[in-house]
Amino acid sequence: MPKVTFLHKDGRKTEIEAEENWSIMQVAVENGIDEIEGACGGSMACATCHCYIDPGWQERVTAANNEQSEEEEDMLDLAFDVRESSRLGCQIQITPDLDGLVIALPGAKTEW
Ligand code: FES
Repeated sequence: MPKVTFLHKDGRKTEIEAEENWSIMQVAVENGIDEIEGACGGSMACATCHCYIDPGWQERVTAANNEQSEEEEDMLDLAFDVRESSRLGCQIQITPDLDGLVIALPGAKTEW
């Protein structure tokens, strides 16, 4: 199973073996990553799955059929501290190509 790493606000890292074809939001919620709430269940209506994708992974994320839609961009406008690396976790499906993916959670101290 692809491994993904979540970076927390307090500097901790959590590495998780993710189910393929689950979204980042589902992986986070099912594994007790509290910073991602996923309140709308992935229907792009809440932005509580906001997270940041490591720039080294952004191209591979997009190539894995996870392009950002206009609807996602609009919903991200409602999120706090939106950056270039911001995405909605419910809109990114984990594929084998994303083994090693690094995701920063809201409040995590990164340069991206
Ligand atoms: S879970 Fe609501 S927008 Fe992603």
